[in-house]
Amino acid sequence: MIAARLAVLATVALAALVAFGACGTDAQTQVPIDPQCVNSSHPPHLVSYHIHILFNANNQDEVSRAMVLQHEFASHFKVPIGKKENCSFAAGDPRPEQKSICAYPTSWLPDGPFPTAQYSFFVPRSFYGETVQWIMQRRDGLDLLVHPNSGCEIQDHLHWSMWGGTPWELNVAAFHCDSPGCIPPN
Ligand SMILES: *[C@@H]1O[C@H](CO)[C@@H](O)[C@H](O)[C@H]1NC(C)=O
Ligand SMILES: *[C@@H]1O[C@H](CO)[C@@H](O)[C@H](O)[C@H]1NC(C)=O
Repeated sequence: MIAARLAVLATVALAALVAFGACGTDAQTQVPIDPQCVNSSHPPHLVSYHIHILFNANNQDEVSRAMVLQHEFASHFKVPIGKKENCSFAAGDPRPEQKSICAYPTSWLPDGPFPTAQYSFFVPRSFYGETVQWIMQRRDGLDLLVHPNSGCEIQDHLHWSMWGGTPWELNVAAFHCDSPGCIPPN
């Protein structure tokens, strides 16, 4: 009975994989891609942005440059990074109602799509130009990823993003959403 159920489940999973593989350029992802995420004649609304600064946690020099940059960005854009003022919503939430820049806590270990230590800022669209111009000139050799949040997480990170410095390979299997406006769990 259980074996039969498992067999059915496995078949369904395999069928889903095959169907998914057939439609995709990003075949290693876990989530089905909503056709609205890949319609370039009518792309989804970009609600907000993230700026991620990636660094090697074992390299003391990189860590100190990363911490200086975090502090300078926060102080220049008056972003509170105290205990209660950090972004208080899930990292993948496009959050249209959030009108100010906020900070996510530093991840010292690989987490989600990121293969290395990183920290990030949430940037409402209205601050995009100012923040990206500022940080590209001050990244001090660090690698950074600027990506939009539309709910189409795969396209947001891989196809509608840009890197300062050297791109890192992201773990695409970590994404939970790929439809406009989708809010991932966590
Ligand atoms: C893309 O979006 C346009 C405008 O909404 C729509 O007319 C068209 O059918 C869509 N194309 C696909 C392949 O879904
Ligand atoms: C808020 O973010 C700052 C900067 O990353 C971090 O130092 C601090 O630990 C965070 N606080 C909490 C409660 O997550």
